[in-house]
Amino acid sequence: MAMANKLLLLVSLVAISSCTCTAEVIHALRPQLGSDGQLMQRAGIPCDSWRLAVEAYNKRDWKTVPAECESYVGHYMLGEQYRRDSRVVVDEAIAYAESLKLAGGKGKEAWVFDIDETSLSNLPYYATHGFGSRPFNATSFNDYVLKGTAPALPETLRLYKRLVSLGIRPVFLTGRTEDQRNVTVKNLYYQGYSGWEKLLLKPLGVKVAAIAYKSGVRQKLNDAGYVIVGNIGDQWSDILGAPEGARTFKLPDPMYYIG
Ligand SMILES: *[C@@H]1O[C@H](CO)[C@@H](O)[C@H](O)[C@H]1NC(C)=O
Ligand SMILES: *[C@@H]1O[C@H](CO)[C@@H](O)[C@H](O)[C@H]1NC(C)=O
Ligand SMILES: [Mg+2]
Repeated sequence: MAMANKLLLLVSLVAISSCTCTAEVIHALRPQLGSDGQLMQRAGIPCDSWRLAVEAYNKRDWKTVPAECESYVGHYMLGEQYRRDSRVVVDEAIAYAESLKLAGGKGKEAWVFDIDETSLSNLPYYATHGFGSRPFNATSFNDYVLKGTAPALPETLRLYKRLVSLGIRPVFLTGRTEDQRNVTVKNLYYQGYSGWEKLLLKPLGVKVAAIAYKSGVRQKLNDAGYVIVGNIGDQWSDILGAPEGARTFKLPDPMYYIG
């Protein structure tokens, strides 16, 4: 196991150093470290291993980012690594979508998109609230959501536009509640999303865990004749639970966990 971890680190280091691409940061706060190579050395292995365990769904039901990892997560999110990791996911998703035999606009082929930390980024909020190291504050977070200013995660927007051009219908499926519909519509349009098939928000008062809620809605989509060819989200609860969709894609999110 120790050897496997070392190999994985080595592989990722090689991948980082061989990548000359530069990604635009999503949120303009300046990262405190210049390069991602430094990220790992400065933060030490534990936060890196913690993030890997989170992304691999080995760690579950965690409430906050460990205090000692706040700055590690901050550097990850604000620097280029988050963008690079997201880009790899979306490159795979686009290659997969382009490989499908599609009915085009005549079919009911759909792709499910989560919203928060998938289609829109709440990094401007989390950057001023400890990057997930503080307990979730619904009041201040909802105040932020209601501003409707969350930026798009650029990689997801790229996927979205490609899917629309292939005739795949985007369906937003979010844990945001129905009372946030107008601001969510405005925010999505303002960030360049348009032409979606459905925007499915959670009815007020529904108290179901995310996996049960989202898989139930996907079942209804199936029942209505949609073929869910793909499903993308930042939480495992976006992509677990039948019917998951023909293929699922997990975006990075080391800031919070939704079970
Ligand atoms: C949560 O946020 C609200 C609004 O910003 C603030 O008034 C309140 O003190 C916060 N609660 C905690 C526990 O930090
Ligand atoms: C949302 O917008 C619609 C039409 O634009 C309006 O009729 C409705 O009252 C708005 N809902 C809320 C909760 O603001
Ligand atoms: Mg999300």
